[in-house]
Amino acid sequence: MPINILAIESSCDDTSASVISDGQVLSNIVSVQTAHADYGGVIPELASREHQVHIIPVVDQAIKKAGIKKSELTAIAFTRGPGLLGSLIVGVSFAKSMAMSLNIPLIDVHHMHAHVMAHFAGEVVPPFPFLCLTVSGGHTQIIRVTDYNEMEILGQTKDDAAGEAFDKTGKMLGLQYPAGPLIDKHAQKGEAKFQFPISKIDKLDFSFSGLKTAILYFLRDNVKQDPDFIKKELSNICASVQKTIIDTLMIKLIKASELTNITSVAIAGGVSANSEMRQRLIGESTSRGWTYFIPDFEYCRDNAAMIGISGYYKYLNEEFCDQDIKAEARLAF
Ligand code: KG4
Ligand code: ZN
Repeated sequence: MPINILAIESSCDDTSASVISDGQVLSNIVSVQTAHADYGGVIPELASREHQVHIIPVVDQAIKKAGIKKSELTAIAFTRGPGLLGSLIVGVSFAKSMAMSLNIPLIDVHHMHAHVMAHFAGEVVPPFPFLCLTVSGGHTQIIRVTDYNEMEILGQTKDDAAGEAFDKTGKMLGLQYPAGPLIDKHAQKGEAKFQFPISKIDKLDFSFSGLKTAILYFLRDNVKQDPDFIKKELSNICASVQKTIIDTLMIKLIKASELTNITSVAIAGGVSANSEMRQRLIGESTSRGWTYFIPDFEYCRDNAAMIGISGYYKYLNEEFCDQDIKAEARLAF
């Protein structure tokens, strides 16, 4: 009998379900919420309401697409945290009820572990140990990965995440949420001609709040001189901000590789979909002799396949959880 894991992800604004069979992705359904587009960020209450609406159809579709019956499921994996509590509760409660009704085990998954484990969803997998730069809307971390689900944080952001820096910049520029993909698109037509500061924070940590303030003052001063400044310079502003964020990330990734002597380097999380981020990783890998790993687009952003892959390796280790488990907005790594 194959090990069939149904996985559920609802930590932020995407409702997702996936079926993983013996570590292979059979389905990965993601319902993206558009209700937040005009707010510049995710509105927690709207997000949990949307999860309630979408969770049953999304799970149904994932099981149908996988071509299996509910009775063939071996276990249910779900995101326990970190994330928005109201959003997590929808997925956690659903997973618990379904596991109870099918009388199968439950596996709790850490959302940030799962972003790293997304690398085991494809054909080409990184060797241990490897470094993973995980860059999303809520986190920015450099992680040393020594085995499946065995990892340690070497550095992380002290304030905003890299994705948040993209999204907050987008809000100042009048772009819809999530602004990362839009900034990426505009940047491709622009030139990084404006200078923004790169945080000098210690060790392998990051800070993006200074950049946010610098952009705010830069825009305020320039719009005072020319009210059409943003319209005229949008592509160049996007290219400049994007370059600053990616320079900041790459400086620390290079330092982490030098300090650990690890040359297998991966990126994960929503921001790893960024085209310049991908090109820079490939460029640095060529010049430094790194082997690089970039997940397919589908596995970069929030998705349940990564939860299922993480859950599959926990299943093999018999790491199950009890029915009284709770969702945690903040969850130790
Ligand atoms: O991993 P993810 O889907 O959700 C979280 O766990 O946060 O990441 C979402 C973040 C958002 O901040 C979004 O703007 C950013 O990833 N993002 C991008 C791109 N695609 C998504 N940032 C830069 N360039 C992109 N192409
Ligand atoms: Zn995420």
